Amino acid sequence: QLCDIGFIGLGVMGKNLTLNLADNDYRIACFDLDQTKIDAIIAQDEKERTGDSPRVVGCHSYTELLAKLKKPCLIVLSVPAGEPVDHVCHHLIDAGIGADDIVVDTGNSLWTDSVEREKQYKGKFIFFSTAVSGGEVGARFGPSLMPSGDPYAWTRIKPVWEAVAAKVDPASGKPIESNVPGKPVKEGEPCAAYIGPVGAGHYVKMVHNGIEYADMQLICEAYQIMRDGLGMAASEIAATFREWNAGLLNSYLIEISAEVLDKVDEETGQPLVDLILDKAGQKGTGLWTAVSALQVGSPAQTITQAVFARSISSLKSERTKAADVLHGPAKVTLSDEQKQRAVQNLHDALYCSKICAYAQGFQLMAMASKEQGWKLDFAQIAKIWRAGCIIRAVFLQSITQAYEQNDNLANLLLDPFFASQIQSFQGNWRHAVADATLMGIPCAAMSSALNYYDSYRCAVLPANLLQGQRDYFGAHTFERLDKPQGKKFHVEWSQPGQPQVAIKR
Ligand code: 6PG
Repeated sequence: QLCDIGFIGLGVMGKNLTLNLADNDYRIACFDLDQTKIDAIIAQDEKERTGDSPRVVGCHSYTELLAKLKKPCLIVLSVPAGEPVDHVCHHLIDAGIGADDIVVDTGNSLWTDSVEREKQYKGKFIFFSTAVSGGEVGARFGPSLMPSGDPYAWTRIKPVWEAVAAKVDPASGKPIESNVPGKPVKEGEPCAAYIGPVGAGHYVKMVHNGIEYADMQLICEAYQIMRDGLGMAASEIAATFREWNAGLLNSYLIEISAEVLDKVDEETGQPLVDLILDKAGQKGTGLWTAVSALQVGSPAQTITQAVFARSISSLKSERTKAADVLHGPAKVTLSDEQKQRAVQNLHDALYCSKICAYAQGFQLMAMASKEQGWKLDFAQIAKIWRAGCIIRAVFLQSITQAYEQNDNLANLLLDPFFASQIQSFQGNWRHAVADATLMGIPCAAMSSALNYYDSYRCAVLPANLLQGQRDYFGAHTFERLDKPQGKKFHVEWSQPGQPQVAIKR
């Protein structure tokens, strides 16, 4: 019996996606360079399946994989981003893949690589990309999927991705959970939607990760302020996060942060979090988002600060030395009432900063969409992030509604709901940032979000002086408020007292 789908790369994500596909009645031919991974998935399938016939078949070569598939073939790759994707593609060509066969890359690939790959493999096979979010559990029981590429390929892949994706209850916008092998969620709206031409899906996933970086850093800053400024223990902070998770801040990242803070190390009996080295790792997607924001010219300071926060965290030995020589303000002791107030301020600061981080991400996608001609559908993107992905949150239902009401929304901050939310909570946000600053506790993401908000709502920024400076030393010219737009002026600044002569360039 031929298989429906070929799967290459059986790491954690690949193995779980394969089992998810199998749960949805697809028969999978799989291949990995590491035979133990093939053995492991076959054993797992034997354990989990209810019927007699294997849902997963192991292959020992690319040729065998192609031979075991229904034609035209549909092959999914879950291999590390970069060179390994091309390595597999070349092997598939050597093994005789056909021009109508489809190869779907599900790794965290750089979006420009996907664009190049579609061109490079044209005529040899159809290269399609699908960015996946949700980590290992998401892959197993329902990820958020961001597919993009050839529209014909999408018609073939759509039913598959809609089956395996996370599902949302359309009435509440909340995820429909099921973590039971063999029992995938069939009802609800799937978190899989066609994003656009190839590259668009991985771009959107990259920005998802940029927002993920910002969201995580904001939570970490709230944690540090509670730990170092308010003297709260890990378990107390966990309880606070749990409380927050029942309200406006309800999200997967707040939920797992509480769990991380509550975990006790079996060996020492201490909170495990207190024993984890404070050096953050990163695989690159946050950096790519920051670089893209700088290239496109879209302000995304909270996302960028979150990347820098990881960089400064990695300078552990330098920081340890600096801590002995560079001093901040004297420590203050707060009353219980002041502490309670400070915790409420932090809640509101986190909420407002989170709105700004998402506003930055969506603004960046809007600018990139315009530049690339992608025509991204932001209500749709917010919808497929409501479940399955790492940044899933109740909050995404409000973002969906904002773009459903106005698909030309220039910035999320201008949506009446979000504008009024920030209006209500900004006082406490400002207090939280000011208090952290006065205590000498870093809160780069939180304060950059506030600065983003204040800059965005500022009709007149000091860039008039900046333009004057540029024209002074480099004759870079400037436009005038009182003259037609686009007309350039230059002044001979270095001759004080002389009448200013406007020179049209
Ligand atoms: C997801 C995650 C996933 C991965 C990140 C981690 O959406 O499922 O974003 O893609 O966990 O790449 O990135 P860092 O290692 O850079 O934190």
